[in-house]
Amino acid sequence: MSPPLLSVRGFGATYRDGARRVAALQAIDFDLAPGRRLALVGESGSGKSTLAMAIAGLLPENTETTGSISFPSLGAPPRPGRDLGIVFQDPAGSLNPVLSVGDQLAEIVVVHRGTSWHAARTIAAELLDKVRIPRARARLSGFPHEFSGGQRQRIAMAAALAGNPFFLIADEPTSALDTVVQRELVLLLDELVRDEGLTLLFVTHDIALASELADEVAVLLRGRMMEKGPVTATFAAPAHPYTRALLATRLGLDTPHTTRLPEIDPQTFAVRRPGEAKNG
Ligand SMILES: Nc1ncnc2c1ncn2[C@@H]1O[C@H](COP(=O)(O)OP(=O)(O)O)[C@@H](O)[C@H]1O
Ligand SMILES: [Mg+2]
Repeated sequence: MSPPLLSVRGFGATYRDGARRVAALQAIDFDLAPGRRLALVGESGSGKSTLAMAIAGLLPENTETTGSISFPSLGAPPRPGRDLGIVFQDPAGSLNPVLSVGDQLAEIVVVHRGTSWHAARTIAAELLDKVRIPRARARLSGFPHEFSGGQRQRIAMAAALAGNPFFLIADEPTSALDTVVQRELVLLLDELVRDEGLTLLFVTHDIALASELADEVAVLLRGRMMEKGPVTATFAAPAHPYTRALLATRLGLDTPHTTRLPEIDPQTFAVRRPGEAKNG
């Protein structure tokens, strides 16, 4: 068997904030093989983003970690921007409001691929076209605010691909978008990952999206990994009661995103619909 791209062993992360300490992750163990797509699912605050940032080597200074994160098939950690592309939930955070999208994309291409500026402009137009921005070349001179929210997230995806990475981390890339736009973006992400043969770590709280995009799923609850397995088998017959509870809360893609999510009791894993009494 070829070595995994990513190997996480006994990994824990605690945020220090003065005297306050938040244990965000504990005893995380898993591997990710090259070319596979892993969905990391769990409720808000379960530690998904912390794990994604730890893998990218981008945890803030005030974090204490235990265990290890290594890249057996690589030797050295992947370089963010180059080997590793990252898409965040909020495209506003990854795009510079005062630079044209063409300049932003071209700059990443120059820095990470070492091309001339002229060649980088052509690659920038190809990237915009690849993420289906109409009239890509003409729109290189547009600024982020001149694009719709969905288009800005497509541009953020183009930026993540601009360094020509082989590994992509997408942290709730569609959560800020309305359902129709979300749907289009997931199809695009699926296509890009296939075309480029990327290894994918897809962070989501949406089980439907996880089933659609991933081969494998890992379920996080309060910083611990409850179970991990092939996505179809895991969701068809979950081993852990928490995964069963998560499935019971499953919301379809056509559910309005204003719908309040049911809560899951962390001790009993009972599902409580919004508005229901705590013990009822
Ligand atoms: N920079 C930070 N400083 C202190 N605590 C943090 C920081 N980032 C996240 N946390 C805490 O760590 C826990 C896990 O957060 P996070 O990884 O963002 O979860 P998720 O992405 O699943 O919503 C939460 O309790 C959150 O409040
Ligand atoms: Mg998060």
